[in-house]
Amino acid sequence: MVYQVYVRSFADGNADGVGDIAGLISRLPYIASLGVDAIWVNPWYVSPLLDGGYDVADYRDIHPLYGSLEDAKRLIDEAGAAGIRVLVDLVPNHTSWDHAWFRAALDADPGSPERSRYHFLPGKGRHGQLPPNNWKSVFGGSAWTRVPDGEWYLHMFDVSQPDLNWDNPDVREEFIDILRFWLDLGVSGFRVDVAHALVKEADYPDAEDDTDAVLSNPTGEGHPLWDRPELHDVVREWRVVLDDYQEKVMVAEAWIPSWERLAKYVRPDEYHQAFDFHFLKAPWDPEAVRATIEGSVAATASVGSIPTWVLSNHDVIRHVTRYGLAPHVEERAWLLSGDEGRLDLDLGLRRARAATLLLLGLPGSVYLYQGEELGLHEVHDLPEGVIDDPVWERSGHADKGRDGCRVPIPWKREGPSFGFGDNGSWLPQPEIWSELSVESQDGVEGSTLELYRAAIRVRAERLGDDESLEWIDVGPGALAFRRGGGVTCLINYGDEPVSRPEGVLLLASGPLQGDSVPADTAVWMADT
Ligand code: GLC
Repeated sequence: MVYQVYVRSFADGNADGVGDIAGLISRLPYIASLGVDAIWVNPWYVSPLLDGGYDVADYRDIHPLYGSLEDAKRLIDEAGAAGIRVLVDLVPNHTSWDHAWFRAALDADPGSPERSRYHFLPGKGRHGQLPPNNWKSVFGGSAWTRVPDGEWYLHMFDVSQPDLNWDNPDVREEFIDILRFWLDLGVSGFRVDVAHALVKEADYPDAEDDTDAVLSNPTGEGHPLWDRPELHDVVREWRVVLDDYQEKVMVAEAWIPSWERLAKYVRPDEYHQAFDFHFLKAPWDPEAVRATIEGSVAATASVGSIPTWVLSNHDVIRHVTRYGLAPHVEERAWLLSGDEGRLDLDLGLRRARAATLLLLGLPGSVYLYQGEELGLHEVHDLPEGVIDDPVWERSGHADKGRDGCRVPIPWKREGPSFGFGDNGSWLPQPEIWSELSVESQDGVEGSTLELYRAAIRVRAERLGDDESLEWIDVGPGALAFRRGGGVTCLINYGDEPVSRPEGVLLLASGPLQGDSVPADTAVWMADT
């Protein structure tokens, strides 16, 4: 079980309004109290922070806003002493435009070795005034930007994030060295950013589909930019490095539309884990959810691996809000319109708590995102003036971006940033977060925080050793399965109450009606 720490928004130790390593260290007892095995820390490297740190200028040093390398080492040691491993974020698809390599590439001539570490190409058109092809940036607009001497460089994300050329041996060697640097410092592994990117088709053909179509396309086969077969060679090289050490892991962030292709990432000599985003995207519907669970379990089993589940992270709308939106509301459009009438946060929280029992009842690995254990929702009404996500500008203000799930954690009931730090927070928190703060929920029976703690504890005690799952027919509207440890999980998606399975009640996500499980509620039952 891994807990994701968005360090910028977790805890501020030096009163500058931004989270940091000192703040994170001070909150290690809290993380330990959740019962998680590890934390994954989002990028904390030197960076101009034009994409929240996913624009790395120096992969071997810490951003001064967050602390120093000594602080990072102290975190790894203190977390280790508390039984918590540390995973860091590896960002191999692109660097920042402030990285020494990109600066050197800009100073060098077309065709130079410096430029060949990135993707620099002449443009099309009589004067090279058109981009080399039709590839689009994930954040909106063309994926190419022109430099003063007329060449264009590729950036699948922001203009400040030039893509590295993974056919270049310098790039391959550099990242092996970066892996060793962090492994030697004591980290337990890496979450790998856009793991399905990396290698591009060598002759840069036009793409038939645009990015969005590709990401939601069921086959995903043969795209010039995404999920290229050649990238698996790179992963195998990294795996050899990890296997030189003891018990190190890599988890892939790969938004792959087909399970069959996703399973390739977790073959025995590649990643240990790959997030299954089908589960996160599934609607509130038992058949859809069952299909994602079956799909992921079968695909990973076909290569001898297990699934990795997640409901929220720093890129998606927090699941309390997702589940609280009326069906068929287009989330991005809704974020902009701010039409609160279509959001029911009480319903969203009830469903989120039920979904948590489902999530923690599943076989495989689970990642949690900071704040979900408090039942935090997306802050959808952040004023435009505070928006930091490059998506906002690059989409021409058509997409509000991801800051709403990155708002700093409320630790205390009171104070200017609810205990996040002594001097405000870099994004404003809603007043209602006082009631959702750690202080308001700690030790309070029935709180979301205590539900998470209890479920994580029972999972560790009873569901650790046996990955089997057997479906139980409970009629339409609900899902139920029995796990190897003698625990049955039932979740009710329908409107009518459903009878509770036999056995001893271990946990319920909300109030029960006698022996019935009401709508939007889940239970765990034990055989004995
Ligand atoms: C990943 C990160 C996201 C970032 C993007 C570009 O999807 O999770 O936050 O913007 O990659 O690095």
